[in-house]
Amino acid sequence: MADTTSLQRHWWQDALIYQVYVRSFADSTGNGVGDLNGIRSRLDHLASLGIDALWLNPCYPSPQRDHGYDVADYFGIHDEYGTLDDFDALLAEAEQHDIKVLMDLVPSHCSNEHEWFQAALTAAPGSTERARFYFRDGKGDGSEPPNNWRAGFGGSAWTRVNDRADDGQWYLGTFTPHQPDFDHTHPDVKQHFVDIFEFWFDRGVAGFRVDAVAPTGKHPDLPDQPPVGDDIGVLDITWVNPYTVFRPEGHDVWRDFRSTVEKYQHQHPGRDLVMVAEAYAVRRPELIKEFTQPDQFHQMFSFDLMLSPWEKGSIEVALRDPFEILHTTHVAPAWTLNNHDIQRIVTRLGKADAHLPESWTNNNLVLSNAAIDLELGARRARAMTALIFALPGSLYLYQGEELGLPEVLDIPSHRREDPIFHLTEGAELGRDGCRVPLPWNTDESTSFGFSKPAADASVADPWLPQPDGWGAYALTTAEDDETSMVELYRSVSDARAQFAVTQPLQAEILDLGDELVGVRRGDLIVVVNATTQPVAVDLEHPELAIAQPVFSSEPGEMHTPGVIPANATVWFSS
Ligand code: BGC
Repeated sequence: MADTTSLQRHWWQDALIYQVYVRSFADSTGNGVGDLNGIRSRLDHLASLGIDALWLNPCYPSPQRDHGYDVADYFGIHDEYGTLDDFDALLAEAEQHDIKVLMDLVPSHCSNEHEWFQAALTAAPGSTERARFYFRDGKGDGSEPPNNWRAGFGGSAWTRVNDRADDGQWYLGTFTPHQPDFDHTHPDVKQHFVDIFEFWFDRGVAGFRVDAVAPTGKHPDLPDQPPVGDDIGVLDITWVNPYTVFRPEGHDVWRDFRSTVEKYQHQHPGRDLVMVAEAYAVRRPELIKEFTQPDQFHQMFSFDLMLSPWEKGSIEVALRDPFEILHTTHVAPAWTLNNHDIQRIVTRLGKADAHLPESWTNNNLVLSNAAIDLELGARRARAMTALIFALPGSLYLYQGEELGLPEVLDIPSHRREDPIFHLTEGAELGRDGCRVPLPWNTDESTSFGFSKPAADASVADPWLPQPDGWGAYALTTAEDDETSMVELYRSVSDARAQFAVTQPLQAEILDLGDELVGVRRGDLIVVVNATTQPVAVDLEHPELAIAQPVFSSEPGEMHTPGVIPANATVWFSS
């Protein structure tokens, strides 16, 4: 095993990074939509969590068909969110708190309102304008799509351009018709992304979370997808298409991106830039290794733990691959338990049917209709949080998890905005439930402190409705309660700085018997009890013999030495 202790560490290798879903974080204008100045007004809260960086979900100009993942212009700020000056001010103020800023880069597709795509629509088949995207003739008389590919959010992946007699072409949109895919083999597209990197690095951005890397790059012939089995859900068909997902052609794009980043870094000594790849390579460590080769991404999200049920075997499986990758390639995992695409952890782990799934699709826990016990979910979430804060690697938090927010499941249909809900005609609820604007205080007249009233004192309804009782989760309520989730986050973040990041970037799974999960990272030993009963840990165990408990997800319950409370995580250090 290589000793990663002695290798030089980059800031991002064990950074604590907080994901801001700008639209739902804090609204500084009273219009019901979050914005950049809202983030500036809440930097103290972020600093209190001990974070190293923010990752902003896309805040470029966009028609918001997929809330920013449909970018109309990569060189600006969406007008509802502010201006480039506001962005610069946010960066400067964040820096005063020692907080860096990461952006979200969307290379796989843009918005159908992007000027290049608008030009492509009116240009002739075969033109340069069309060659930047995937325009193809339809099958037969042109009225059939060019192939059988399905879109990730429902329906065909192809949309017919128009009914002009001289133009029966269709274009490809892997997610929705409003998100046409770029063809990254075209030189204009390559240059476009070089310009984008340079533009934002020049403003001081520390790196990018790179969106949807799985479908970037296609088989050049765009062949029909082979038939899929009945066990593949309607929205998963896209993700098993061998001609558009995890293609070798994608790696050419990532090599270009990395060389742009390296070149910039070379010209600007002192900058330590990072690119983290987003793809659901769950239980596919070979893919993570491919994407994090030294000439591609610095890191790739490890989503296994986020998708894991609360169960020993499953948690161990989710840890094993990232640990192995870290040991063999020194690539630090990017852990996360929540994001803007997944049902919130308190709800997910509040489901009773915790078992190891046969296959790891995105949704196995989310789709479960088991009864939800939010108190149990919160307790398990605390324990899972205490686990990941101890692990080697960087940690991505999603706004609101520090408040213990549950998923909002009962948003009325007419207020739902996620294209997944609309394109599946309601068959899938989609992701609005984890994007509901944050409650900062208990004042209902300001949407629980989400909105600052406008100059005329008006406050518009928040863009997604907050449920009754949302104030119970407010920051001000939690700050008065030392057993609250936010206090857990603050204390586990302190404990991480003291006991975890001081350890090597390595970890291994310990055998602590049939019931407990054990992880050793240098002098730190973490024990997780995912069962419903307190479990005694053998304090004479060679790994634990000289260790003392230093942190618990349930501090009030550490009455008996060596007994790990049910649904809890305890750290030991020697
Ligand atoms: C993002 C989603 C988005 C999709 C299309 C995903 O990976 O996280 O929120 O809808 O890419 O851009």
